[in-house]
Amino acid sequence: MISYQSAKEEIKQAADIVSVVGQFVQLKKAGKNFVGLCPFHEEKAPSFTVSQDKQMFHCFGCKKGGDIFAFWMAYHSLSFPEALRDLAERYNVQLPEKHFTAEEKKKVDDRETLFKINELAAVYFQKELTHPVRGKPGHDYFKKRSISHSIIEEFHLGYAPKGWDGLKQFLLSRKVSLETALAAGVLKRSEKGHYYDLFRERVMFPIMDLTQKKRVIGFGGRVLDDALPKYVNTPETPLFHKGTCLYGFDASRKAIRETGRAIVVEGYMDCLALRKHGVKEVVATLGTALSETPVRKLKGIGKEAVVVFDADDAGKAAALRTLPIFLNERLSAKAVLLPKGHDPDSFINSSGRDAFSKLLDAAPSLFDFYMDQKLGPGTQNIDQKVSILEEILPVLAKVHNETQRSLYIRRLSEKSEIAESVVLSALGGIKQSSVKDRFKNDIKQQFTSVNANRSIGEIQLLNLLLHYPETVADLRGHHCRLLISDPMIRRIIDVIFDSHGNSKTINFETIQERLDHDEDRVWLREFGFRPAFCSDREVKQAVRDFIAKARKKKIAESFKTAMGDPRAINEILKRKIEAAGPFFGS
Ligand code: UTP
Ligand code: MN
Repeated sequence: MISYQSAKEEIKQAADIVSVVGQFVQLKKAGKNFVGLCPFHEEKAPSFTVSQDKQMFHCFGCKKGGDIFAFWMAYHSLSFPEALRDLAERYNVQLPEKHFTAEEKKKVDDRETLFKINELAAVYFQKELTHPVRGKPGHDYFKKRSISHSIIEEFHLGYAPKGWDGLKQFLLSRKVSLETALAAGVLKRSEKGHYYDLFRERVMFPIMDLTQKKRVIGFGGRVLDDALPKYVNTPETPLFHKGTCLYGFDASRKAIRETGRAIVVEGYMDCLALRKHGVKEVVATLGTALSETPVRKLKGIGKEAVVVFDADDAGKAAALRTLPIFLNERLSAKAVLLPKGHDPDSFINSSGRDAFSKLLDAAPSLFDFYMDQKLGPGTQNIDQKVSILEEILPVLAKVHNETQRSLYIRRLSEKSEIAESVVLSALGGIKQSSVKDRFKNDIKQQFTSVNANRSIGEIQLLNLLLHYPETVADLRGHHCRLLISDPMIRRIIDVIFDSHGNSKTINFETIQERLDHDEDRVWLREFGFRPAFCSDREVKQAVRDFIAKARKKKIAESFKTAMGDPRAINEILKRKIEAAGPFFGS
């Protein structure tokens, strides 16, 4: 099989990892590198590092890392060929078909087919909406809900007309197999094996992915009256996972970045209503609980979230359920409670943007909101208080910031009228286990950390080679490989010695690609992303030191093999005196 190499290279020439990653993670310059909060694990201090020189990223926390392809795959949950195809399109690089094995090609093609079907369906729904007769009910409905023409355009809204097979016939006319349309989730199959449209007499909301192409991954469709179910969504498909995506995210990314804030609402209509009134930094959950994945993505581009859920009990409960997620992910969050009977859509349409902005500005922290809701008037009964305490404490135990936690504890104690000392000791009981877990993690961390069981000298040698490639030839020539006993460092150094010519730069990626073990690649990045242990001025001395050590080691080893052979020993001694020079006896 022909390698991906040339296409990969071409993409890498065109793309800069810092700007690619920067679209999804807020990066700050830190010395030579850029750092940010890792999108792949929860953390409060940034250990996610991107290097422009190396065109690689590495997280010192979770150890995920690699080039832009590795990032794209991990962030968008794609296979390599899919990532390659995405990035190739994004950067206008032609991919000859034979770059893929048959199996890889099938996988990519299958996904691509699903995207195409969704795209066709979206086009069909959009066209139907504009049809003077068939589209009229949809058109009227949007009008009734104050959805403007420009919102319809921007969000590619559509209408699925009455009838069982409008879309089916349209897809057949475009040579789409019904089976794949079923796999895309836009058709259903009856027990008798008849295919029919899933969405009928519904206004349609296509849901897009986060890539630049904004491809359609699924749909939501709403009835025009009070029939049930009110909304129907695309079922789970390889493209669509309801629980992990947010509606409107593709359109609001820029605004979230600019305002630093993400407004989280519950429904399609809420999202669009806010947009219509000029509130652009808004996303909607899809009728499922907010999960970690989208919160991590929000955290990558915004500084805080404001949840604006319906004023009804279900809405309140949903808002309360988001607290542990935000605490865990350490994204600061506020909560807006709308006046009774309102959801964001009805509120902003009746009271206007200014009134809505006022609510946003006055929003309490989600934690305060949580406690107000839980410990509001009417919960005076002791048993109630105890059960609320039991519910809140595990959440509190997750707040790692001491100051913040003690503030929360004080407020909890005030609100519940339970003495602070009692809250504290109850919390202590819970925390003990999590502290133990953290302690265990720290220990584990130490064992896997750079220095564990590895001699500093060996690490320094590798560090020197990676930061000052001009030393490679010299150190290789003087058998410095002898100084390495750690098998992993030895494997890495062998590749460096083997692949490096006389150039002043080192090709990090070539080395990474030539390493066979995943673990080696992780540690290559780990060592390479750490700063140099010596300064430019100290390089020469460091090289001399290593060469001297290598000589001594070599001589010592020759002694061992020459044991019992006086002539050989004599020879070695002579060499030692000649060669070791100023280092002799040191
Ligand atoms: P709501 O029932 O609060 O509806 O559901 P809504 O968003 O206010 O819609 P309108 O204003 O009546 O048109 C909130 C969200 O829950 C999901 C949808 O994503 C909806 O936007 N949902 C709701 C479903 O998936 N299925 C349903 O049957 C109902
Ligand atoms: Mn509504």
